[in-house]
Amino acid sequence: MFVAFLVGACLAGSIAVAQASSAAGDVEDHAWWKHAVFYEIYPRSFADSNNDGVGDLRGIASRLDYLKDLGVNAIWISPCFPSPQVDFGYDVSDYENIDPMYGTLADFDYLASEAKKRDIHIILDFVVNHTSDQHKWFLDSKSSRTSAYRDWYIWRDGKGPGQPPNNWVSTFGGSAWKFDPTTNQYDYHFFYPEQPDLNWRNPAVKDAMFDITRWWYQRGVSGFRLDAVDTLFEDPKLKDNPIKRPGKNAFGDPFEQNKYNTKLPEVHDILRGLRKVADEHDAVLIGETWTADVAELNQYYGKGNNELQLPMDFLFTMVNQLSPAEFRKQIAAVDAASGWPTFVISNHDIVRSYDRYGDGKHNDEIAKLMAALYLTLRGSAIMYYGEEIGMKTTPPTRQEDVKDPIGRKGWPKEKGRDGERTPMQWDSSENAGFTKATPWLPVPPTYKTHNVADESKDPDSVLVFYQSVLKLRHSNQALLNGRYKAINESDANVLSYLRIYKGEGVVVSLNMSDKPQKVRLDLKDDGFASAKSRIATEKSQAQGQDISLGPYGVFIGEMQK
Ligand code: GLC
Repeated sequence: MFVAFLVGACLAGSIAVAQASSAAGDVEDHAWWKHAVFYEIYPRSFADSNNDGVGDLRGIASRLDYLKDLGVNAIWISPCFPSPQVDFGYDVSDYENIDPMYGTLADFDYLASEAKKRDIHIILDFVVNHTSDQHKWFLDSKSSRTSAYRDWYIWRDGKGPGQPPNNWVSTFGGSAWKFDPTTNQYDYHFFYPEQPDLNWRNPAVKDAMFDITRWWYQRGVSGFRLDAVDTLFEDPKLKDNPIKRPGKNAFGDPFEQNKYNTKLPEVHDILRGLRKVADEHDAVLIGETWTADVAELNQYYGKGNNELQLPMDFLFTMVNQLSPAEFRKQIAAVDAASGWPTFVISNHDIVRSYDRYGDGKHNDEIAKLMAALYLTLRGSAIMYYGEEIGMKTTPPTRQEDVKDPIGRKGWPKEKGRDGERTPMQWDSSENAGFTKATPWLPVPPTYKTHNVADESKDPDSVLVFYQSVLKLRHSNQALLNGRYKAINESDANVLSYLRIYKGEGVVVSLNMSDKPQKVRLDLKDDGFASAKSRIATEKSQAQGQDISLGPYGVFIGEMQK
């Protein structure tokens, strides 16, 4: 698990408890992204059209019908730009092209036009904090102290011979400073040494990066997921970071609090600027925002919602237990935030939700329950490929098999992120139908039981469950537009809530325990009398206001007066 960077966000105790009911009608502007379900594609692992073992853009294009049928409105493609692939694309060497491994710009245009035909938006991943050390800007910058690009990156003198400018450690291990013998200075990298940080205090950097977004908007992109925005700025005086606690992390570094190199207020000026450009193109900005509480989340929405439309609420991904009380608290907090909520349960950096919540016995039931939860809340949802078929995190078992450099470096404490990036499981043929070559990461054995082809035919599968929840979400007015209202808040086993819009209501009841449960819906004030089943798992049903739920059961019903 990708830990270091997340630590600041783990302060679960700091989640603000807010009112349990949201303002009505805040989706009335019908901005396309408010109703959208986004789907993250890790392009290396989705579909391999040319059988070289690595996924590609033509592969994605060949699966658009699948995504459309699933109910996806937008795909976020993790970086597919030219890159030495040190961090599998998060080290970009040219922002205005496609890495040959994934295809060409013509393939991108083909994908964009095929997606448009199906009303699927394309979101690209914009790596804003750093470039690759092979980017032409950096190559020039490091060539001499007088390079026109010198000030595009963060170069500083060491404190003394062999001593970096300060104590900052990289979130990927080791000092955050790399010595360059040619110019006798250090350059700063929050992530790998091959990912030098851009100097966002330089207006030329800002102009060049803003222009890149314009370039892609003109090519049909509907927005960006902004990578690692917390880390854009550093304290100009480079003050040492305080040490949080004694001991060493998986990389053997001290536990630092990133006080002087993350979440500086200047970040917000840049986000406001990027938003202005986005607004000119009806585009959406999603943020990788590791906020510690809702107050920080609100800062990312900006005053009057002039920054990120969709800062990701990772606090939701930190509720790593099936606890109605914890989810209630977190949903209420985000629901009362100043912008439109964004829910996500898995991505390419964290252990898949299937394993984080699964108990090893009821994992499929729990996967359905988690889908029923975050896809029926008020807000946009971001899925992660394979989540809809119950893909399991499958980390390497031997250090020599690890591909993700943080896993090689931090083994065995840190096994890296390969486990959540394995190839998509399309069918039960060899390599799960992902490729005819040797896949870049092994296909987990679960492809025999969890794959798109077989699950499509099984009415009880995780996939068919996702399809039905998404279908309901896209067609039901209360789920599309309604406010959120927590009910039965003292129930320790079942999480229940209503979504209400103009007199229409939907109830969602989720049994987070392995025992059958009964709930009498607490419906005072809302004028509803009973619930009519729309989606229910085995042994889950309603009679009037009474709902019975099987172990980990789900009931979603339309309220009747
Ligand atoms: C973000 C990405 C992660 C990457 C890092 C450095 O956290 O999600 O995958 O390694 O940024 O770019």
